Amino acid sequence: MREPILAENLAPYSALSSTHDTINGLCDALEAVADSLPGNVDRQSCRCLSQTLIPLLERAQQREERQVFPTVRLRSAPASAFERLKNEHFEDLCVAEEASEVLARLARDEEVNKEAAGYLLRGLFTMLRRHIAFESQFVSGLKPPQ
Ligand SMILES: [Fe+2]
Repeated sequence: MREPILAENLAPYSALSSTHDTINGLCDALEAVADSLPGNVDRQSCRCLSQTLIPLLERAQQREERQVFPTVRLRSAPASAFERLKNEHFEDLCVAEEASEVLARLARDEEVNKEAAGYLLRGLFTMLRRHIAFESQFVSGLKPPQ
């Protein structure tokens, strides 16, 4: 009887850990492209990242909003904190869309302002890392007593 309850309590934290692993992987890939600018760009990596960035980020954010937030919200967390996290999801996704277009242009070897591209990519992975650090700290602070 105790194990299903424990599994149910830990499920949102496991889901969050999984989504953050995905986003960390995207951040590492974005950083690798940014580091390769201006003259050492791997066009195949840019193509792959331009195609996967939005779907992976969107899926991770949706999973958090559907499987994590509703469960931990029941633990008397302030609604404003969840609104902040959801707003950050939206902002991150907007910047990711812009980054995805730039990555596609780099993949096609089209003219791109490399300095602006580097700034955009670095801005995105910095935002994403900041978001998951806050989200992780906030949600783990709501963990039920073991
Ligand atoms: Fe998130």
